[in-house]
Amino acid sequence: MTILEIRELRKSFGLSTHVLRGINLKVEQGEFLGVIGLSGAGKSTLLRCINRLIDPTSGEIYMPRSVFDPQADGAKIDILKLNRGETRLLRRKVGMIFQQFNIVKRLSVIENVLSGGLGYQSSLKSCLRLFSREERRRALVNLRRVGLLDHAYKRADELSGGEQQRVAIGRTLMQSPVIILADEPVSSLDPKLSRVVLDILKRVCLEDGITALVSLHTLEQTREYADRIVGLKQGQIFFDGPAKDLTDSVVEKVYQDVRMKT
Ligand SMILES: Nc1ncnc2c1ncn2[C@@H]1O[C@H](COP(=O)(O)OP(=O)(O)O)[C@@H](O)[C@H]1O
Ligand SMILES: [Mg+2]
Repeated sequence: MTILEIRELRKSFGLSTHVLRGINLKVEQGEFLGVIGLSGAGKSTLLRCINRLIDPTSGEIYMPRSVFDPQADGAKIDILKLNRGETRLLRRKVGMIFQQFNIVKRLSVIENVLSGGLGYQSSLKSCLRLFSREERRRALVNLRRVGLLDHAYKRADELSGGEQQRVAIGRTLMQSPVIILADEPVSSLDPKLSRVVLDILKRVCLEDGITALVSLHTLEQTREYADRIVGLKQGQIFFDGPAKDLTDSVVEKVYQDVRMKT
């Protein structure tokens, strides 16, 4: 099943900064997609358009309607045309993981994970700690899945960087996402911790049939973890294929530093 179909996606800032310049991309459910490209190529902008943290200038992004409505048939819907309530649902179903973890350091690990079940806005419930027994049970299950059950009641800032990113993965799992967007999730971690985090991310995605779009810092990591690699260059897709087709000469071209022409 196609989980995501992007057509002619463009994003400009102002009149002269054309960041995405006609992205076409079709992603099947369960794919673990690596996104590569020089800094400034448009990786973060692309990922942020998919959960509507950024509004693109033009184009379409289709997802199956069943993502928003379990009763729906296989028809697809342009998520750029969703109403406010549907957008909230979209953000629940499309989890996001950031380079800087974005967890609440003064809260406990389990509270951070529990807050994932709330969506982006409702911090009130979180402050009042109104979590049901069932929510707590799910949080503990997800903490076990990311290997942090023993740390559940520690303050989040007592954990190492790699562990904090695993908290973020656990929190995302509370949303039962269909897609996870991970924007340089291991760029601030050393190679050993990166590997632990990516192993966990890949495993939970595989177990739950979650589709992942992950921008990664190094080619070695991308080649090792991604089923399929998309290379962005100046806001366009320059390469799209399996890791084995990403030859050295293609890599050289993806990473060739061409000054942005607008
Ligand atoms: N809010 C913004 N206003 C103006 N330019 C922006 C904004 N956000 C991103 N850009 C520009 O878009 C380009 C691509 O950014 P980004 O998507 O962050 O690339 P990447 O994640 O691949 O490094 C950069 O040149 C950046 O300066
Ligand atoms: Mg970026």
